[in-house]
Amino acid sequence: VSDVNKFFEQKHPWSKYKDLILGYYLKPYLAKVATLSRPIVVVDCFAGAGRFDDGELGSPLLIAEQLKPLYGRGVSVHAIFIEAQKDIAERLKKNTEFCGVPHTVYEGDFRVYVEAITRLASTHTVFLYVDPILPGDLHFADLQSVYGQLKRGQSIETLVNFLSTGFVRRAQGILGRMSRLDPLHSEVLACDQIAGGTYWQPYVADLGLAQKDRIDLIATGYAKRLEQWFDWVLTYPIREQYEDEQPKYHLIHGTRHPDAVDLMNRAMVKARREFVGARFVEGQLFNNQPAEEVVDPIKLQAIVLTTARLLGRTQWFLLRVHTTLSDPCMYTDSEINAGIKQLILSGKLGSSASGRKVEDDAWVWPTR
Ligand SMILES: C[S@@+](CC[C@H](N)C(=O)[O-])C[C@H]1O[C@@H](n2cnc3c(N)ncnc32)[C@H](O)[C@@H]1O
Repeated sequence: VSDVNKFFEQKHPWSKYKDLILGYYLKPYLAKVATLSRPIVVVDCFAGAGRFDDGELGSPLLIAEQLKPLYGRGVSVHAIFIEAQKDIAERLKKNTEFCGVPHTVYEGDFRVYVEAITRLASTHTVFLYVDPILPGDLHFADLQSVYGQLKRGQSIETLVNFLSTGFVRRAQGILGRMSRLDPLHSEVLACDQIAGGTYWQPYVADLGLAQKDRIDLIATGYAKRLEQWFDWVLTYPIREQYEDEQPKYHLIHGTRHPDAVDLMNRAMVKARREFVGARFVEGQLFNNQPAEEVVDPIKLQAIVLTTARLLGRTQWFLLRVHTTLSDPCMYTDSEINAGIKQLILSGKLGSSASGRKVEDDAWVWPTR
């Protein structure tokens, strides 16, 4: 049984976490883009089998579930599912046959379809879900022609599962074999291709770094590279267990709309609180959540104020979105709005707004 076949035997808990985020995000995202009166295409570049052996839904069926209500209302939607491995693609076809929305299953390497997707992006709203199984399955540049459409004003978003920990292990394996990273060695060049640059090399070579920080720094580097196309990039590490130091991978969301950052963050906070809740609170008599998981308005206001000092005079919604990016997945947009209101009312933030209600376009600035 190959790694891929094994993967579909049973859905792992960290995959469920990722699926929650996908579902929670797609719902409001699709509701929003449905108002643009352009046809919508959701592309699952690494679609897998559609359903796991234990009956759990795979991402193609989760995507179909979210598209169905729109399709029912007459919105033009289409799903594209791409899977490279023949037997898995066969399963995918069977499992999605009656998924209830117009869809196409392509068997083969997603790279073959990038040109067609790029063309679609000139007339459609496109959401890409990119969920590889091995770090080497996705080269950073693979989707650049699709992302390049953003420069032409098209509506494209991406949710990438960057296999940060797997990537670091692969790179450390190379370092172990050659004692120093030779930048021209073919294996190092292969890592450059995956990462989209050489920025990862010093982090892997620095043996003094904690592994967790190394993984986070490289994921941040990856996200930074995506900023060449996407104005807003939100990155969040997904762990298997709450206590785990090292993540399994990083989910990275790229969009050109600040509103989408609010939505994705909301989806991530919701999934996170469910994950944390299931671990700490369910079935317990007392609230035993770790302190950092209980929203502390004072701590949140301090984060907002630090962000405000970095930004200077700015607009309310920008302060909120930058606060989100500085501490992703911890606070919802409405909690941050409440923090901004409090700071205005207490005079720590100056504003053209009164602070009694949310005014996204109002000006805000730190008073000290
Ligand atoms: C992590 S699994 C996807 C799981 C799926 N997103 C889900 O949640 O149900 C990755 C899948 O991508 C497939 N794959 C690997 N390389 C690919 C490529 N170049 N093009 C398309 N599919 C590929 C693998 O065979 C595997 O089934």
